[in-house]
Amino acid sequence: MDRLVLIRLLLLLLILSVACKAAFATKSYVVYLGTQKHRAQVTAEDINNVRDSHYGLLGSLMGSNERARQSIIYSYTRYINGFAAIMSEAEAAEIAKNPNVLSVFPNRARKLHTTRSWNFLGLEKDDGVIRPSSTWEKARFGENTIIGNLDTGVWPDSASFNDEGLGPIPSRWKGICQQGSKDKITCNRKLIGVRYFNEGYIAEGGIATADNSTPRDEDGHGTHTLSTAGGSFVPHANVYGYGNGTAKGGSPRARVAAYKVCWPTPSGEEGGCYDSDILAAFDAAIADGVDVISVSLGGDPSEFFVDGIAIGSFHAVAKGISVVASAGNSGPTAGTVSNVAPWLFTIAASTMDREFQTYVALGNRTHLKGESLSSKGLPKEKFYPLVAAVDAKIANATDSDAILCKVGTLDPSKVKDKILICLRGETARVDKGVQARKAGAAGMILANDEADGNEVITDTHVLPASHISYTDGLILFKYYASTRSPTAYITKPKTELDTKPAPFIAQFSSRGPNLVEPGILKPDITAPGVDVLAAYTEVADSFQRILPFDILSGTSMSCPHVSGIVGLLKTAYPKWTPAAIRSAIMTTAVSRDNKKEAILDSYFKKATPFDYGAGHVRPSRILDPGLVYDLGTYDYINFLCGRGYNISQIAVFNDEPYTCPPKFSILDFNYPSITVSELNTRTTVNRRVTNVGTPGKYAVRVKEPAGVSVTVIPSELVFKKIGEEKEFEVVLEAKVGAKKGAFVYGSLVWSDGKHIVRSPLVVAPH
Ligand SMILES: *[C@@H]1O[C@H](CO)[C@@H](O)[C@H](O)[C@H]1NC(C)=O
Ligand SMILES: *[C@@H]1O[C@H](CO)[C@@H](O)[C@H](O)[C@H]1NC(C)=O
Ligand SMILES: *[C@@H]1O[C@H](CO)[C@@H](O)[C@H](O)[C@H]1NC(C)=O
Ligand SMILES: *[C@@H]1O[C@H](CO)[C@@H](O)[C@H](O)[C@H]1NC(C)=O
Repeated sequence: MDRLVLIRLLLLLLILSVACKAAFATKSYVVYLGTQKHRAQVTAEDINNVRDSHYGLLGSLMGSNERARQSIIYSYTRYINGFAAIMSEAEAAEIAKNPNVLSVFPNRARKLHTTRSWNFLGLEKDDGVIRPSSTWEKARFGENTIIGNLDTGVWPDSASFNDEGLGPIPSRWKGICQQGSKDKITCNRKLIGVRYFNEGYIAEGGIATADNSTPRDEDGHGTHTLSTAGGSFVPHANVYGYGNGTAKGGSPRARVAAYKVCWPTPSGEEGGCYDSDILAAFDAAIADGVDVISVSLGGDPSEFFVDGIAIGSFHAVAKGISVVASAGNSGPTAGTVSNVAPWLFTIAASTMDREFQTYVALGNRTHLKGESLSSKGLPKEKFYPLVAAVDAKIANATDSDAILCKVGTLDPSKVKDKILICLRGETARVDKGVQARKAGAAGMILANDEADGNEVITDTHVLPASHISYTDGLILFKYYASTRSPTAYITKPKTELDTKPAPFIAQFSSRGPNLVEPGILKPDITAPGVDVLAAYTEVADSFQRILPFDILSGTSMSCPHVSGIVGLLKTAYPKWTPAAIRSAIMTTAVSRDNKKEAILDSYFKKATPFDYGAGHVRPSRILDPGLVYDLGTYDYINFLCGRGYNISQIAVFNDEPYTCPPKFSILDFNYPSITVSELNTRTTVNRRVTNVGTPGKYAVRVKEPAGVSVTVIPSELVFKKIGEEKEFEVVLEAKVGAKKGAFVYGSLVWSDGKHIVRSPLVVAPH
């Protein structure tokens, strides 16, 4: 065919398809029908019957099963019942009326939970000698636990997935090593499964190129999170020689599996992870036989029935699989926490006690402490001319864009061989360095604005750089304005350990209260999520850099720390429920930092349970928590009853018809934290604890929230054997003159002298 004709034809097709799109306005939706009601032994015929029922359901609406067949992008057939399909808004509204349909929601994109700068944020892990008394040794390094990760896939050839010393793959494993359409993926006894899910992404405009049809991680995020959860030991892992040590995951001897659900947006950067792909991955992971699912992604908080992560994780938890999720990076604004379902373990992010320090020496000999990593230092040992981006902009750029060093705002003739000052915000931190380098800068100082406070993050920059706090930024700008020829020098990075205070809550970490269900405190706990070093993609970036390990920051990075720790408990106590495991980790958490003072936020103000839930994770205590607050599937269903879900909605969650208790108060949902979001006069909260330790007599100790009296009945609990359960009441009363409307915080501790079982108390007198 004539080339020109072909091009015209293609153009015509393109125009037609765009026109069609507008006329019918089709989108993809998830149609959720609840739990699959299979017999114990599921046959291929059962699966086909379910699929046919989906064609029938949609076909009756669309006029033919054939059309339905073409529209459906996924049938969820194993644990989750439902499908994802392309249809018009009117068809979606119509199918929602069908009595068998529990929920219809758009196939929305979720975001990966790294902070704004996607590729080059920082985070790291503590290395050292492992003592025989350590939780790692006692829990056999998470041996044979299987951790699945829903993310951007995996770099299968990473040293972190070496299978040295691991025995045969557990026989219960049913997963596969799915091949990419362009490259060979090798699984081994460590990386035992990979799959990818891109139908929902393609339905929403993603393109099915070979790059987008592979479980291989070309982004780095998924490799980083999976190796943080369950990576093998890798000696001498480092970034440009820094942070040199043995990299490893929280469960270094666990088996891992990657479920790729996140894909690049057409612009190439931030990942989009679609609900229908996420649900398909949950369904597959449950069937494959994972023990822990790690989910470092999420969207805005939403009602559970229209949330793919909430629905998928419900099915996993009902099968005894723990699901750990990131809280989100929308902090420090209140009410931003996502992944708030009470069957999820929701993780905030905080700092560690290690910094990669770079100092900024000003021409007047004042030194400002910053952080960053880069491959080289400044070329010459001399003071360089200093220029603020706002004074180095091209004529048509606005001051507000230039000050942030956005693309196309810098004038190379004003930047060349100088140290450029950029303000943090809007664009990725590393990208500001990219712009500085493109304009010929010798180095960059990245200064926080007021909102970012003292949170300074180590990124792997493409030029010598230093990220400084807001306070230091003020000094820098004052100096800059005080002289006609300001100069500065940036020192080479130096690794500093035992920095104090640590941890403090990352500025980006999403905060409570939980806007979907204020009666459940979220996040549940905090873990290291700033400057984490872990394995990375080995695809070169635009500066030809290949970093087999990189430093990233985000709740994406704190989440897999906890997933790895959950893996240890799975190995130690295979029969424990996800709720018992979460309780053990929450009630042993600490609320003090390494100065033995209350954990702070990034403004160095006292943090609250809305920042860190139960506190900072403390793996050394999790194997012997003493008591746990347990929950089973019926408790979660009662919780849904408490939220006002009706009989028919509850029935879809559950194989047997279930009658909600006549009155179920979410106050009595047996969560390891206690939240009373509207304390009128007197409120009673019921809880139940199970002894998982030695027999003993536990006494209660309460730290009352300001203006609230708390009485626990009984104040002593005696346990004679393991597995014994005891109930108690917590009676809360606002004192006369208590401040109304504001949240106040306290804690409730059960102790037998050996174990400390601590729950945060969050109360708002009303
Ligand atoms: C990392 O440390 C090991 C031993 O402690 C050393 O042999 C190796 O050269 C170091 N690597 C780098 C890049 O500093
Ligand atoms: C400024 O103008 C140049 C061309 O004269 C253009 O390439 C650039 O995008 C413009 N920048 C802004 C910020 O408008
Ligand atoms: C350098 O300038 C800054 C800003 O004016 C000031 O705070 C600092 O004290 C100066 N340093 C010295 C040594 O004078
Ligand atoms: C439950 O609620 C749904 C949605 O509001 C409604 O369609 C359904 O009829 C209700 N079922 C019962 C048994 O009330």
